[in-house]
Amino acid sequence: MRRYLMAGNWKMNLTPSEAKKFAAELAANIKDLDKDVDVMIAPNFTSLAYVKEAIAGTPIKLGAQNMNDNEKGAYTGEVSADMLLDLGVEYVILGHSERRDIYKEDNALINKKVKFALAKGLKVVLCIGEHLEEREAGITANVVKKQLEEGLKDVSATDMANVVIAYEPVWAIGTGKTATPEIAEATHQDIRNILTNLYGSKIAEDVTVQYGGSVSDANVDNLMAQKNIDGALVGGASLKLAPFTKIAKFEKV
Ligand code: PGA
Repeated sequence: MRRYLMAGNWKMNLTPSEAKKFAAELAANIKDLDKDVDVMIAPNFTSLAYVKEAIAGTPIKLGAQNMNDNEKGAYTGEVSADMLLDLGVEYVILGHSERRDIYKEDNALINKKVKFALAKGLKVVLCIGEHLEEREAGITANVVKKQLEEGLKDVSATDMANVVIAYEPVWAIGTGKTATPEIAEATHQDIRNILTNLYGSKIAEDVTVQYGGSVSDANVDNLMAQKNIDGALVGGASLKLAPFTKIAKFEKV
């Protein structure tokens, strides 16, 4: 049985003091969850320790937004897996389109990070998704196939138990233009088929595949009602208390 993962990606928002306050308010709202739902928030690195404290004793899990692919050493400005683990981080988001587009991370680097994180015992949220031109050219399935094949290269079937895929069409991120549930579901079905080819149907059926891109409290229930959509990776709406609480406690329709 696969699980839902409702996750907040706070990006480069909230100072440590703001993050601490917001996480405490969220923690007060989320004391219990359906048994097949996980909730995770990913603050920036500087806020991890505060947020860890604020969510202690609640079902909310801690995530990070990025990680370096080396053990340790002369990598100025970078953060290692051990540093994240030491702060109680359970999930790391890798391959977000902002990392790919702004910081030029390619599938090969993302794959190194994915393998390194898994070897360290972190759970990975691997983000994939097409740009508008790619969707308009009708090549969405090819784009996500390449991102999955290269991003998951040499990731074992066993390790897939610790991998979540986040499908985030780039044209829907931060734009208010959510993919309709039907458009999202069609690509999620393609993703499930690609995972079946890579790992077989048993494993592919168990992988949580989140949707991301302008998810809000208004559209979450209809997105989650789709057969192959198992959660959400939420940017903008994860910075608003009431909407994110509603997203975490979405209604199963
Ligand atoms: P958004 O961001 O919800 O603001 O569109 C989603 C994301 O980038 O993960």
